[in-house]
Amino acid sequence: MRTFGQSWFKQGSLIGEFADHLGIAMVQHKQGIALNAAKVDAELASKAKSDFIANMSHELRTPLNAIIGFSDMLASQTVTSPEKVMQYSGYIKQAAEHLLALINGILDVSKIQAGKLSVEREPVEMKPILASCLLIVEAKAREKGIAVECAVAPDLPKLSADPLRVKQILINLLSNAVKFTPDGGRIRIECTLLQEGYAAISVTDTGVGMNPAEVETAMRPFGQVDTTFNKRHEGTGLGLPIAYALARLHSGDLRIESQKGAGTRVTVILPTVDATELEPDTPIH
Ligand SMILES: Nc1ncnc2c1ncn2[C@@H]1O[C@H](COP(=O)(O)OP(=O)(O)O)[C@@H](O)[C@H]1O
Ligand SMILES: [Mg+2]
Repeated sequence: MRTFGQSWFKQGSLIGEFADHLGIAMVQHKQGIALNAAKVDAELASKAKSDFIANMSHELRTPLNAIIGFSDMLASQTVTSPEKVMQYSGYIKQAAEHLLALINGILDVSKIQAGKLSVEREPVEMKPILASCLLIVEAKAREKGIAVECAVAPDLPKLSADPLRVKQILINLLSNAVKFTPDGGRIRIECTLLQEGYAAISVTDTGVGMNPAEVETAMRPFGQVDTTFNKRHEGTGLGLPIAYALARLHSGDLRIESQKGAGTRVTVILPTVDATELEPDTPIH
């Protein structure tokens, strides 16, 4: 027979047991959540990795197949007219150059992901760098009747950056601007002192623009916004993510403002020579 006291005792032990169980369950639950989170993290990382490898294999296979296909046709001598031979060898060269750009891009991405890409900072004057980048894109811009203007603030100090990497960032932004701006458009490059210790280099175009979801796609490795306009253009889809990573390696940043159908502005923020005097974690405004 149960007595009140006994029942209290039992109830107490039950509560104690319940509390113990609850405690254990809570700990297990928390561990479960943590484990789950770690699992999700790991899955995401491995999914990103396998997506990257799948994409990479696809991207490499396409130009390789073109090279094999066209060289087979040339070798089998089914194509005999000198114009066709010229045309097909031109395709082979294009595919090989694309392959080289892809492999260089993939090497950069994997070096960045492994934390093995270091930037060698030195004082860098912006004007000569801009001039050499403009030389590379000028011909294509002229061909499309795109006006390119450039404004460098007179008070702009030297950057504290790796000149080759700054060039790599700018060439990508400029070639994107030319590539995604229809004939007769405009491109403006502006270099200003953003705040003490940082400079902003922006490339603004009057091109096809992107909506917010497309900007996200553009920032992912191999991400290319799938529009009919884009389909006509060559590219690896690695330029923007690499440019962003390079800016971050300089303790800088890369921002995209874009409006579908109206144009895009990509701004790169890089430290100037005085940045070393700043606190390392001074926020960028
Ligand atoms: N200035 C721009 N205007 C419109 N779309 C752009 C612009 N820059 C980049 N994009 C979009 O972002 C994608 C990724 O750019 P990027 O990483 O440089 O690769 P790629 O130029 O090799 O395609 C482009 O394919 C394009 O769809
Ligand atoms: Mg590009």
